[in-house]
Amino acid sequence: MTELLLEGKEITVSFGRGAEAFDAVRAASVTVSGGEAVGIVGESGSGKTTLARVLVGLQRPSAGEVRLEGERIFSAHNEQRMPRSERWKTQMIFQDPYSSLNPRMRVWQAVAEAVQVWHNLPKAAAREEALRLLQTMGISDDQARQFPKSLSGGQRQRVSVARALAPGPKVLIADEPTSSIDQSAQAQLLNLLRRLQTEQGLSIIFISHDLGLVRYLTSRVYVMQKGDIVETGETQAVMEQPQHPYTRLLIDSIPGRGNGAA
Ligand SMILES: Nc1ncnc2c1ncn2[C@@H]1O[C@H](COP(=O)(O)OP(=O)(O)O)[C@@H](O)[C@H]1O
Ligand SMILES: [Mg+2]
Repeated sequence: MTELLLEGKEITVSFGRGAEAFDAVRAASVTVSGGEAVGIVGESGSGKTTLARVLVGLQRPSAGEVRLEGERIFSAHNEQRMPRSERWKTQMIFQDPYSSLNPRMRVWQAVAEAVQVWHNLPKAAAREEALRLLQTMGISDDQARQFPKSLSGGQRQRVSVARALAPGPKVLIADEPTSSIDQSAQAQLLNLLRRLQTEQGLSIIFISHDLGLVRYLTSRVYVMQKGDIVETGETQAVMEQPQHPYTRLLIDSIPGRGNGAA
């Protein structure tokens, strides 16, 4: 295994006050190494998105810290925000690709804007780079000239990946990226993510409630339940010999698995 890249150490996120206060994430520790794909799996409300938001610097933890390449870049105590010099290294794509794309911008413009923000390139060069990124995600120049509403859900999700790739991140966090798209589009997106990992050495944190998808893409997995990481290990081992009853439950709920199929 290559070296440790991103590390969330003992991350706790508390929401609410007084009697309403609760921990959405409790002392969760996760790591991803260079070129590694790890999964975070758990049912809705288990804290996956909150943990991911901390890792990319969108949510300040109540306790714990985020380390990147061995340096603390974000924590409960020090930094108000993750420093810009570090933020580009971890990028996140969200469940709903529609809400993360500006409906009034053509697809290529949305990606070119991200390229310009991070690379400060002249307009023509940013456009070239945007079209190149879109191409790697299977979006043609023709499609790149459209507005998001003319694309399918799967295409829009691939556009958001292209946009997330604009700064040349080291880690891509994909938060339930396939949950709003149809099955063939899901397979296509998963294959493209896998290619980014195997061919370009991008580290991926793949978040899903579906352990079946997690198994396809990742070699290591964290199982979250109500804010706690209850089990972790190599994905295959966890699937074959789950140690925690909650993991067993998730395995039984993989689509197409029920009665006797396990
Ligand atoms: N900004 C917030 N304020 C208050 N509660 C929140 C906030 N964000 C998430 N939560 C709550 O934290 C818990 C975990 O949510 P989330 O991280 O979105 O879980 P998941 O992504 O696993 O579905 C849920 O109970 C959710 O309602
Ligand atoms: Mg979520």
